[in-house]
Amino acid sequence: MCTSSQRHLRHRDVLVRLTKRRSEIRTFSTGLVKCKESEHEDSDSSGLSAELTSRQAPPARRSRPLSPLERISGLLPRDALSPEVMQLREQNQQEAEEDANVQESFAQSTQEQSGHPETPAGTEATPKEDESDNDHSSDATTEPSTSERLIPATLPGESLLVPGELLVAELYKKGRMEYRKMFNLQTGTRLHSSWGFIPHDDIAGQPAGQFLKTSLGAPVLIRRASLEDYVLYMKRGPAIAYPKDAARMLMMMDVTEGDRVLESGSGSGAMSLFLSRAVGSKGSVLSLEVREDHHRRATLNYKRWRTSWNLRRGEEWPDNVQFHKADLCTASSLLACQGFHSVALDLINPHLVLTTVIPHLHPGAVCAVYLAKCVY
Ligand SMILES: C[S@@+](CC[C@H](N)C(=O)[O-])C[C@H]1O[C@@H](n2cnc3c(N)ncnc32)[C@H](O)[C@@H]1O
Repeated sequence: MCTSSQRHLRHRDVLVRLTKRRSEIRTFSTGLVKCKESEHEDSDSSGLSAELTSRQAPPARRSRPLSPLERISGLLPRDALSPEVMQLREQNQQEAEEDANVQESFAQSTQEQSGHPETPAGTEATPKEDESDNDHSSDATTEPSTSERLIPATLPGESLLVPGELLVAELYKKGRMEYRKMFNLQTGTRLHSSWGFIPHDDIAGQPAGQFLKTSLGAPVLIRRASLEDYVLYMKRGPAIAYPKDAARMLMMMDVTEGDRVLESGSGSGAMSLFLSRAVGSKGSVLSLEVREDHHRRATLNYKRWRTSWNLRRGEEWPDNVQFHKADLCTASSLLACQGFHSVALDLINPHLVLTTVIPHLHPGAVCAVYLAKCVY
């Protein structure tokens, strides 16, 4: 039995002892557990600390998360650890050193290959924090890492941004996306936002993926639109097949390069674009749409993406989708003598068209049906 004041004193004693032993605490070299080493440490541990600091320089490599055992044992004094845990620590330290060596040699070789590690004029690879009282000082939350800055500004097949390309502007504030807009790069115009504007002429000629500052000093990421961005932001007629559902359909249909696919209705042309990419230049897609306005919208959206792609890559996006204005229920003549590897249906009353479609499917082929809330 002990009184509460005795207990208090005992706890304080434990606390004091732990505090005194802080200098004996070592860190795992994964770089996730940080512990300030005291100046009175032996030369061995200060060496470790210096190494850790230099290794933190290229932060692109994400250390694996620590296991609960590593977390707790990282806080305990060395002599309180079992030999197994000590062995694990040493193993981790070795692995981290090897990783650091690989990273260093990669960084060196990249620098040698590019010969231009510096940022192109007029751009800011790192969105610097605005030092004025400007409200946007906390906007720059996504800083490109050191290793990213060592990567050559453009990748093979990716040219500098040119007028006519479809781009996306994004602004993050405190880790949250505050603004995103898809736009067509055009000389003489401006990208406007509540955070100020950027003249399009300042964007043209830059590599994609740069942070450019608005007239009010907010760092905006300018990147090329992905196909997913494009279908989400393009002008729509009817509702589109959402990218996650389209991906599921492509999997169900097992669409492969070179396939011949039937699609209906074309709608806004989102699924047509995903199919176009999946079948590639050797494949083809037949897309039927009963409504004139939707047929026109799908055709235009397809054309617009292809134009932007050609400017961006300097090579043609395959012209592999044939859009037809026709009712699939009565389109037997259009399908005559044609076989399909798969069919994608996204229309009301799909059961009404099955009799027209099924005779044209290869044996074992899949007909995927997208209904507002589920895919069959
Ligand atoms: C939801 S939309 C398709 C959207 C398209 N999958 C996309 O991702 O943009 C459905 C379309 O099917 C068309 N449609 C409905 N019945 C049809 C039929 N029997 N033949 C051809 N098109 C049809 C509608 O006019 C409408 O444009």
